[in-house]
Formats: sequence, C-alpha cells, structure tokens
Amino acid sequence: MRDPDAAGRFGKFGGRYLPEALVPAARAVEVAFREAWADASFTAEYRRLLATYVGRPTPLTECARLSEALGVRVLLKREDLAHTGSHKINNVLGQALLAQRMGKRKLIAETGAGQHGVATATAAALLGLACTVYMGHTDVRRQQVNVFRMELLGAEVVPVTSANGVGTLKEATNGALRAWVNETEHAHYCIGSVMGPHPYPWMVREFQRVIGDEARAQCAERLPGAVPDVVVACVGGGSNAAGTFAGFVDTPARLVGVEAAGGSAVDKGRPGVLHGFMSHFLQDDDSQVLEAHSISAGLDYPGVGPEHVHLAETGRVRYPSVTDEQALHALKLVTRTEGILPALESAHALAWVVDAAATGELAAGSTVLVTLSGRGDKDVQQIREHVG
Ligand SMILES: Cc1ncc(COP(=O)(O)O)c(C=O)c1O
Repeated sequence: MRDPDAAGRFGKFGGRYLPEALVPAARAVEVAFREAWADASFTAEYRRLLATYVGRPTPLTECARLSEALGVRVLLKREDLAHTGSHKINNVLGQALLAQRMGKRKLIAETGAGQHGVATATAAALLGLACTVYMGHTDVRRQQVNVFRMELLGAEVVPVTSANGVGTLKEATNGALRAWVNETEHAHYCIGSVMGPHPYPWMVREFQRVIGDEARAQCAERLPGAVPDVVVACVGGGSNAAGTFAGFVDTPARLVGVEAAGGSAVDKGRPGVLHGFMSHFLQDDDSQVLEAHSISAGLDYPGVGPEHVHLAETGRVRYPSVTDEQALHALKLVTRTEGILPALESAHALAWVVDAAATGELAAGSTVLVTLSGRGDKDVQQIREHVG
C-alpha cells in the first residue's frame, strides 16, 4: 500500500482537519514517526518487544475441520494469541515507544468496548507512562470488567457524557481530542485504529503491517502458490485489515474487508469530516453523523479509515458486510470445529467466508487466509445473551 501524499491523503481521503491548537501536536507526531521508523535502533526495540512481550510471530493455523465443512482451505492468522488478546497491542506498543522517544510522560486514548484501552494501559504500565482512557458513559456501564482491568493496570478511566450522544466510541473520541488540546505538552494521543488526522492512519497501518508481513512469509512456506487466493479481515476502523492487506496488496490475492451491516461506512457512508479526517461516515440527510449498530463493539463506529475508502474506490479491495446473525453463526461453527472462540469482530470476517463458500463466490478448493483479530473471551457475556 502506498504512503499518503504530503497532505496525508489517500486519494481524496484522509488529511488533517484539526482545531488550530492541535495542528503543531499532530505535525510533531508526524516528524517523530518519520524519524523513528527510519531509525534502526527504534525498530529493533519495537521488534524486540513484539517478540518477547507480545509473543510474535503469531502462528498461522490450518483449519482442517472447518475447511472440510466449507469446502475451501481456511488458514487463520492468530492475532488472538497476541498479549492482551488482540492485534491492538501491535499498534499501541509502537505508539508508546514513540511517545517515550518524544519525551512524553502520558498516553491518552479513546476506547469503545475497552480492547484498545486495555492495550494502551498495558503499554503505559510496561514503559512507566501515565495513562488516561476516555470512554463513553454507556460503554463504562456495559464494560465494567474492562474498566476494572484498565484501573488495575494503573490507568484512569474517564466517562464521557454529552447532551445528545449515546455514550459510545464517538463521544469517547471527542473526549480524548479535547483532553489532547489541553495536554499536548506532555501527553501523546494514542489512537486505536487507522483513523484520525495525518499521520495516524498511515502510522497505525505501519505498526500493524507486521500481521501481513508475517502472514505472507508463513504462506510462502506453506502454500504451493505462495499466496492464498483470498485474504479476508474484518473492518471497524480498519487497522487489522490494513495491516493484513499491506502484506498482500502487491500479490494476485483477492482482498476482502468485512464490515458489520449496521456500521458499513465504506459501502453505505458518504464523504464527510469527523475526528480530524475526511472519510466515509454514516450520515442522515442533513449530514449529521449517525450512530452505528453492531453486536460487536469494535465494529460500532460510524466511520472508517480513509485508506480503505480509497482502496474501495480504486477497486483493489472489496468491502461486503454481514449481519449480527451471520457473525454469531460463524462464531459457533469455528468454535465447534476448531476449538477457537473468535472475537465477535473477527467472526464477521469468518461469516463472509462461510457465506461465500456456500454461494460459490469462493470456488471449491480455493485457499483463504482470515485474520483472527482477537479472542472471544471478552465477548462471552454478550454472546450468551444472544445464543442463550
Ligand atoms: C478483536 C478486535 N478486532 C477488530 C477490531 C476492529 O478494529 P480495527 O478495524 O481497527 O482492526 C477491534 C476493535 O476494538 C477488536 O477489538
């Protein structure tokens, strides 16, 4: 995937739409990231932590029973086995090291269900940084266990309430941006996906490309044709998908990013600006940004990373969506055939594979790589309510 242009755009999308007070802070992050990413001592330290702390490389699992059930060969890239239970840690460790290099003493983050908040609190504890996590008031109530986990890790969790908001990730992001304005001197804003103002969509993709690079090398060892026919990942903001696709974009593999039906911003969204970047957002006729709805909290955001909209426009990646019911069906199937309980987010990617194998969109015998972005332990209560 290409780097963004000088203004931080992928085609028309991306850029930096910020209040005056935050422009120097975002520029400073860009300069620091460019320097750090070209500095062998920074990347060596990042790779050391990925190996010794996160547990990378994560394995590629051949799914014999699932493959037999579907009639296609399924390989899973196991981000669920990374420390803290999802791919989020790859990005957060990179940004935490960057914050340290910039002389910052604190990390600020937004979180929806809590996965990114837990990863940020973890990295802050590891590096001895202070940490404040902003969370919508509804999510604070719904995700008590994750709030407690973050507090155990030493983070402060701040509930965000707004007059007309429903108290989820959109408001949490507003809260984090407001805090950053007041604390740019000593705090780094650690965004959790390929979203936000330049350089975040690009920087987060680069920190997540380890998923795709590893998977490409693992496929080269394992598959006769070296690359799978199709590469699939779920898309909330789009970070696990961007990291996965980065390893395969220059191959003949078909790339598929799967959105939640109630949050399909690439497909059903319209161009707009929110939270510092231009992308597709779900909007009403008055261009007011709508709330997204998904059984999976990590896919419950009304926008999507700008590079994904560009990849859709250029035709390199397709972005279908699946329903809550399809995701739950796939989750049960994978759990029972493979003994792996996927996160509800990842279950969306798997649901597309199940569906495409049934309709013939995936030819019998074809090879499919799916990024399993996280484990489902965090979702057990939610799954129980739906499955009974
Ligand atoms: C396990 C898991 N997968 C996927 C996502 C979606 O994020 P992204 O699209 O940035 O990978 C989340 C977000 O919370 C998550 O926790």
